[in-house]
Amino acid sequence: MTRIKSIGEKLDNNVKIMELTTDMLNQAIQTGKINVCTIGIGRIGLPTALSFALSGLPTIGVDINSNLVDSINSGKFPLKDEPGYDIIFEEVMKKKNFHVTTKIDEALSKSDVVLLSLPTPMDSNNVPDYSALKNVAQQLHDFLIPGTLVIVESTVEPGFIENELIPIIEGNDKKFLAGNDFGIGVCPETANPGQILNDFNKLPRLVGAINEKIADIITRIYKHVFTVDLIPMPNCKTANAVKLTTNVFRDINIAFVNELAVLFESLGIDTNKVLEAAKTKYNFQIHYPGPGVGGPCLPVNSYQFLNLAKKINPDLLKIIKLSREINEKMPEHVVNLMKSCFKEANKQIENSEILILGVSYKANVKDIQISPAEPIIQNLKDLKVKVKIFDPYFKDVEIFGIKTESNLVDALKNIDGLVLVTNHKEFDDLDSSMLYTQMRTPIVVDSRGVIDHDAAKKAGLIFKGLGQGE
Ligand SMILES: NC(=O)c1ccc[n+]([C@@H]2O[C@H](COP(=O)([O-])OP(=O)(O)OC[C@H]3O[C@@H](n4cnc5c(N)ncnc54)[C@H](O)[C@@H]3O)[C@@H](O)[C@H]2O)c1
Repeated sequence: MTRIKSIGEKLDNNVKIMELTTDMLNQAIQTGKINVCTIGIGRIGLPTALSFALSGLPTIGVDINSNLVDSINSGKFPLKDEPGYDIIFEEVMKKKNFHVTTKIDEALSKSDVVLLSLPTPMDSNNVPDYSALKNVAQQLHDFLIPGTLVIVESTVEPGFIENELIPIIEGNDKKFLAGNDFGIGVCPETANPGQILNDFNKLPRLVGAINEKIADIITRIYKHVFTVDLIPMPNCKTANAVKLTTNVFRDINIAFVNELAVLFESLGIDTNKVLEAAKTKYNFQIHYPGPGVGGPCLPVNSYQFLNLAKKINPDLLKIIKLSREINEKMPEHVVNLMKSCFKEANKQIENSEILILGVSYKANVKDIQISPAEPIIQNLKDLKVKVKIFDPYFKDVEIFGIKTESNLVDALKNIDGLVLVTNHKEFDDLDSSMLYTQMRTPIVVDSRGVIDHDAAKKAGLIFKGLGQGE
């Protein structure tokens, strides 16, 4: 271990992490002599970086968002909806084991291990956008210190690492050779927003790399940071295929229950009762119907698979394409439920005022990425409805061009209709009698199965629940 410098410095520039003996590597990990840099410190990257720092490995976060960087360095923790990480943040900041910067070149010069937790969204044509990863790969080509280990946590389609990312890092000039001058592997992130700490402590992680030695090094480092099982994958593309498969499985199954929900509505069958009973069968895995599938993962992951299929055989993965179509139609279905309530009440929907309850794409998170609330609001606006929003995570801010409400009871005044879009825990005890009393016209559509159907009818609401009969 003589060549390894003291804590806070990078492994000696002549030492390549890939060439350490197992004993040396273990010792370097245990004594905090592996220096880590996480590029992209958003929803996933920041908690990841904090976990690495908490484990005793000095960690630098890098981000292009200078406001975020300044705010974190001044001690403000941005992810208020991630329980537990506020405390970890304070602890690692106190120990001075973590700081963030916008300067990637400086950070790379001090790091033995580089994690990439960059966004992988899609463009307006649903084509995956890997520009952040490609951009950083180019910077790795320019600034990487030979011997560094790169680990991609971002979600990418199988083959992207091998066919696109590695060639950019290596460069046309072949400045670096993967496996020789730098190590590269993947450990796709599978945590759920709102419960990242819980998932980091429980969910097994997949490790794939360009060779077994690198996979072993990644496994040893992650084993030190997280207590979960690390599942060896034969290569990067297989690990990325698993990640997409688990999420797309959900997108497809939600599409299935969404179609059942629409069918059961007209048959007077309560979909949730069907599903709860169905789950008593050991091999049924429950998924719930809803107003659509949003967020940074599921819809994007389906399009990542479709993008891949397009290159090989566009006839493949038709089930994913259809599932996307079904899930993307659900906002329209929710608005149709609202329209039929207005018909039942003999009221015009045009020029009415409708309150959207919840704009997050899912419960208990502050995140509106690809939220079904957006097309629902747009559909209602197209009908000349005046739309109001109440969401406990977004008070008094502008969302989708609407200034949100700060108080639910006040927001209900002069309202002709209410659509529950997100089942935040704050809406669990929504009282139908209170809604009846407060609303100008007591029309309620529940797209998440939160409000009890019988209680709603008893209270006098003109009520439709997605997937429920009359
Ligand atoms: N959020 C989730 O639910 C979730 C779950 C599992 C996996 N993932 C995957 O993890 C990855 C990261 O997602 P996220 O939700 O944390 O994204 P995010 O948008 O919350 O964070 C990404 C961060 O990267 C920064 N960034 C963008 N371009 C950069 C660049 N060129 N250099 C440095 N920083 C840059 C952004 O400023 C942002 O702070 C994605 O591939 C996503 O699919 C996300």
